[in-house]
Amino acid sequence: MSPRFLMMTALPEPGLGMLRDVGEVVDGADVGGDEALARLCASGDYDVVVAALDQKFTAEVLADAKVKGIANYAVGHNNIDVAAATEAGIAVGNTPDVLTEATADIALLLLLGVARRAVEGEAMMRGGRFEGWRADLLVGKDVAGATLGLAGFGRIGRAVARRGLALGMDVVFAPRPPAHREVSFAELGEFAGKVEQVRWEELVERSDYLSLHVPLTEDTRHLVDADVLRRMKDDAVLINTARGPVVDEAALVAALREGRLFGAGFDVYEEEPAMAEGLADLSNVMLLPHLGSATRGTRAAMAELTARNAIGMATGGEIPALVNPEARR
Ligand code: GLV
Ligand code: GLV
Repeated sequence: MSPRFLMMTALPEPGLGMLRDVGEVVDGADVGGDEALARLCASGDYDVVVAALDQKFTAEVLADAKVKGIANYAVGHNNIDVAAATEAGIAVGNTPDVLTEATADIALLLLLGVARRAVEGEAMMRGGRFEGWRADLLVGKDVAGATLGLAGFGRIGRAVARRGLALGMDVVFAPRPPAHREVSFAELGEFAGKVEQVRWEELVERSDYLSLHVPLTEDTRHLVDADVLRRMKDDAVLINTARGPVVDEAALVAALREGRLFGAGFDVYEEEPAMAEGLADLSNVMLLPHLGSATRGTRAAMAELTARNAIGMATGGEIPALVNPEARR
């Protein structure tokens, strides 16, 4: 029997065509709710679920699941209880590498946008309020020579480090905060001698720009809380392109309202698509709707990798980006 793919997300080409070439593609995107997802996964009708971040594969959803795998159309997989999937022998795939540069670009866009007050400037132009050059108009924050602090030094963190160095910034990083795991000289590779490794506590206090590049786990939930916000420099900028819950969004709004921090740039939110009350009323924040990987080339590459993962899961073949190798017995 040819494999059956349950599509919980609209997979772009070339991914969709690749799945159609090997099996049957069934659209499940409109079923709604955890219970419906659990029922579909337990039905025995599908080999692999192709999913996105808005489907939550909790232990309950996975309890009676009969699928061989979940191919997540994202690098982050905090929407899936991977331990429960592994326990159930269900492979989980994701899309690393292919979205690294695009996501790093969004971090850079937010950094520069907040530093140079692009949101206020744009609004001024569209509102017809530009009255000519003035020495004190929307004066921003310097970038060259400033300290860029990276929380996390994985693929995306490193791509942001490269951009920071190109801008003449001093780049410091804390690997895997809040715990510390020293990155060896060999692991630093091209960054050896160019970036400085510090502990999380020091990173918080030294960064002019603090950019988050950690996965969402129990350890990183509210990594940036009221206490961390208090310890940051008064005129620091916080950038989040990782996962919303890494920041206590209400505490951030409170800090900004009190006039602490220079500003913040966000691509992800704690309760997407909602935002903390008051966030959108602040003029010194730049807010994007989770666009990290949203370029044509990146999305095509993600779709292809997702399809290759899904086909490998369905056919017992190679799974190029397998999150939980222990699941394959
Ligand atoms: C997007 O947020 C992703 O994890 O790919
Ligand atoms: C996360 O998976 C990253 O690529 O940094």
